[in-house]
Amino acid sequence: MTHSGDPWISSGMKELNAPLEAPVRAFLQNLARDPSAHARFMNMLSMLEHMGSRKIMLSQMDKVLTEDILKHLAEEARHAYFFKRQAERLAGEALDGYDNGNCTTRIPAAMYFGRMDAGISKRVAPADSYPWVSLIIELRACWLYAIYHQVLEESGLRISLKSLLAEEDMHLAEMFGMCGADTNTLRALTAYETDLFRKFWAVLEKTEGCHALAA
Ligand SMILES: [Fe+2]
Ligand SMILES: [Fe+2]
Repeated sequence: MTHSGDPWISSGMKELNAPLEAPVRAFLQNLARDPSAHARFMNMLSMLEHMGSRKIMLSQMDKVLTEDILKHLAEEARHAYFFKRQAERLAGEALDGYDNGNCTTRIPAAMYFGRMDAGISKRVAPADSYPWVSLIIELRACWLYAIYHQVLEESGLRISLKSLLAEEDMHLAEMFGMCGADTNTLRALTAYETDLFRKFWAVLEKTEGCHALAA
């Protein structure tokens, strides 16, 4: 069930998020200069990747698990591991679990994810929850990691998101192939997630003492 088209054009995601690009980039550039804050941020990304992996697992509990879905689940778990490992490298110590001390805006991040999952699942048929939630998450992951990748390259920290980005790109294409033909729903859900992300990022900025979006 594939169709032609481009997830970026169909979703309108880049246009909608254009005003967020500069403040998000500036925030990440500041973060890259502060190893301990940066480590806590990476541990938060690890938590979100872990939540994504767990979401896939739970959504498939009563279904026949295919190789594609198992691969997707495993790759999200590996992303969680990747960010945890880089966070520990930056921190110079173990960051076990996800708590308020080692994870930036732990509760707002978990709430952002939970609300997005619940809000999207409410708007689509139960059987379509997995591809729709995944499609919207992949758009955000590709959008954010592309900016973050550039910032990391310029920072000289020798952390590359290249292979992670390639995997997210592939997930995006797969999920778009499963449900992206419904452009109206895609646009509405993209706008819904963008609103949640903007609010979440404003909290993140405020917490880290930066106010570009919170203003
Ligand atoms: Fe991921
Ligand atoms: Fe992904």
